[in-house]
Amino acid sequence: MAGAAPGPSAANGGLRRIGVLTSGGDAPGMNAAIRAVVRQAVAMGIEVRGVHHGFQGLVDRDWPVLASRQCANILQRGGTILHTARCKEFHDPVVRARVAEGLRSEGIEALVVIGGDGSFTGAELLHREHGVACAGIPGTIDNDLPGTDRTLGFDTALNTAVEAIDRIRDTASSHERLFLVEVMGRASGMLAVHTAIACGAEAVLYPESESDTYEVLVEQLRANWERGKRSSIVVVAEGDQEGGAMNVGSRLRHDFGLDLRVVVLGHIQRGGSPTAMDRIWGSRWGVEAVKRLAAGEASFYLGVEAGRMVVRPLAAIHDPRPEPPRELSEIVATLAR
Ligand code: F6P
Repeated sequence: MAGAAPGPSAANGGLRRIGVLTSGGDAPGMNAAIRAVVRQAVAMGIEVRGVHHGFQGLVDRDWPVLASRQCANILQRGGTILHTARCKEFHDPVVRARVAEGLRSEGIEALVVIGGDGSFTGAELLHREHGVACAGIPGTIDNDLPGTDRTLGFDTALNTAVEAIDRIRDTASSHERLFLVEVMGRASGMLAVHTAIACGAEAVLYPESESDTYEVLVEQLRANWERGKRSSIVVVAEGDQEGGAMNVGSRLRHDFGLDLRVVVLGHIQRGGSPTAMDRIWGSRWGVEAVKRLAAGEASFYLGVEAGRMVVRPLAAIHDPRPEPPRELSEIVATLAR
């Protein structure tokens, strides 16, 4: 049976057509959010266009109808059915003006943007310069957006990294070896620090910490050796100042002749089936974004603070990025004794 024809009504506040896109690095839970946006919109008589490849799809006007049935069985899948991209062209104001004009002529009255800080910055510009209504849903494994305790994909990526390192721990302990394990996070140590606590790492290096230097690491490893520890795991964030796990490993080999091993977990952390929490927040944020757009809100993103849903103005994306609390890396060091 065909669904109700989209159209203005009291239920949808006159909103007839919206677009949804995923942008930046994919994150588990994005599909849950897409599904929720589509199904909430359909329930309110609003048509949804699925914009392909993030902001690039806005530039290319690649925005076919996304129907409810196309969202069947995607809740549990990682990645994004809409594909994603990092679109440099969108930095150009002329391109943004063309995009706004394209949206107007297609009758797409609002956008739901699922992504990280770069994606929200683009959405904020589109609203500020051209009045396009935009709702943001936080989606990045980095968990580095201001104003929210959680972003889609972080919980899944964290659990993936911990599971991998538990396996590495078995072999590290059997061979009495040092392993350096690199996790993602070009500019953020959130994933590294939380992973380090959850897998009982001996040390952690991450971009925001200026005190966790190579010299401090050497001292930590030496102290552990003197306490009788014969194997260690050091979690290194990809963007750490020491240059990532490969560089730290080369330096330790060169300086001390250690027979260590380096593992770069890489994009394994970005893929895979989302955890229950990433599915739940993807679903809740998707529903809320559509309801708020239909109520006339035009420039906001959603988040969670102390377990409760929160809403922020899109401009708040320019607030300082959250950093891993210092006490977390201190816990890593203390519990490694
Ligand atoms: O933003 C998420 C993230 O996975 C970062 O942790 C990482 O630095 C970056 O994306 C990698 O991006 P790409 O897959 O484009 O190399």
